[in-house]
Amino acid sequence: MQIHFSAAPVAAARLVALVCDADTLPPSLEPVLAQGASAARFAGKPGQLFEGFVSRGGAVVRLALAGAGKADSDDRVANLEKAGAALTAKYLTSGETVLTLDLTASTLSAGEVAAVLMGARLRGWRQDGYRTTLKDDQKISLATIAVIGAPAGTEEAWAIEAAVAEGVEFTRELVTDPANVLYPESFVARCAARLAGTGVEITVLDEPAMRALGMGALLGVSQGSVRAPRLLAMVWNGGGDAVRPTAFVGKGVTFDTGGISLKQPAGMEDMKWDMGGAGAVAGAMLALARRGAKAHVVGVCGLVENMPDGNAQRPGDVVTSMSGQTVEVINTDAEGRLVLCDALTWVQKEYAPAAIVDLATLTGAIIATFADQYAGIFCNDDTFSGQLSAAGAAVGERLWRLPMGPAYDKLIDSAIADMKNMGSRYAGSITAAQFLARYIDKGTPWAHLDIAGMVWADKPGAVWGKGATGYGVRLLDRYVRDVLEG
Ligand code: BES
Ligand code: MN
Ligand code: ZN
Repeated sequence: MQIHFSAAPVAAARLVALVCDADTLPPSLEPVLAQGASAARFAGKPGQLFEGFVSRGGAVVRLALAGAGKADSDDRVANLEKAGAALTAKYLTSGETVLTLDLTASTLSAGEVAAVLMGARLRGWRQDGYRTTLKDDQKISLATIAVIGAPAGTEEAWAIEAAVAEGVEFTRELVTDPANVLYPESFVARCAARLAGTGVEITVLDEPAMRALGMGALLGVSQGSVRAPRLLAMVWNGGGDAVRPTAFVGKGVTFDTGGISLKQPAGMEDMKWDMGGAGAVAGAMLALARRGAKAHVVGVCGLVENMPDGNAQRPGDVVTSMSGQTVEVINTDAEGRLVLCDALTWVQKEYAPAAIVDLATLTGAIIATFADQYAGIFCNDDTFSGQLSAAGAAVGERLWRLPMGPAYDKLIDSAIADMKNMGSRYAGSITAAQFLARYIDKGTPWAHLDIAGMVWADKPGAVWGKGATGYGVRLLDRYVRDVLEG
């Protein structure tokens, strides 16, 4: 989706959109449209849409009114995004190629316009690359939004949001791609290509390098797959070397069959998006670089495929992690924590981060808890937890904190090793977090985001269609903006 700005209306505009606050219509609106809108009960509710046709200068113009709710709403930004999203959702495959967003009579601020455009762009993303038989009328037609009469500063505000949108779209692309296309090596190649020239510095560890470092937990997961594992680090140093980096660490299981503890067939195809945490980290790094964030951030992705095979690890195997701690693998399907623990140890050794956020599609239990409404946050630092939750709330990627503690930690003690990789039937998301906590150095603020319910949408949402949401990118970007740059 291209977004252009100009002062004057495009003479030949066929499709024109206006953003309307609750219960208000632009005074200059043709009476027939104003009457039509009220007959259709258009009230300017967030995301509500009305369209009609008018004759202007001898041409038929398709006019859309997009509702943005009350101007003083606490959810103003989200509501403006919904207005933009409603427009692209409606016209994406309509045959229209250009949508003219007419702001000449609008009172929206530059930031508010940027929010409308953000919603429009994010909702307008779709992956059609694997479809070869789409009829012309099923293909995306809308290619351009021409913005006219935007207030001063809109282009600057949009440039920042556009960088974030690019990150979200990159994440969605990674999450959407199937596991025969996207596996550890190709994930790395994709990131290297997208980040080339951005100033992000990339380091890649292959299997021998990880073996030399003693990453027995990550490698144990990988050993049943013919796909070679990778550890990917992406450094964006926009904040100078004086500041210790903040680390984002993502679970990148490019496919999770469960391994020998094999999953049920029904729905297993979803496990192509078991790399959603790593995808979010990669997208966030792209966003930060693209908008030139004044912050020092390292993104790390632990990339493996979890397969059953003659060489796969068995339930009962004991592996030694890079930290030296040993793990009894009770269930080979609790693999994400085994990948993350070595990635977490490595990032602390290598970069001495000031704080760590990990993102992972870690447990089905978090979906049982929150469905697709919240990701779970587990955190050893109240301030940090509050900052991340505020960042999530600001961008519509909500977090809800869950408890941790010694009673839960005890549940993963093992009779043969330092710990086991799962607890009892209960509190599955919490025991997973307790496992990760055992790999965090004392004194390092750390947050674990269990995003299993957020990465993939079965139905369209506020600013996404069915499929990959890109969850996490906007949250991480907002945290960097408000806390590291703020
Ligand atoms: N990747 C899954 C978690 C998951 C499930 C993500 C559904 C998205 C949708 C994870 O590796 C897993 O299998 N977790 C197990 C852990 C259990 C064996 C302790 C789970 O949640 O069932
Ligand atoms: Mn699993
Ligand atoms: Zn998994």
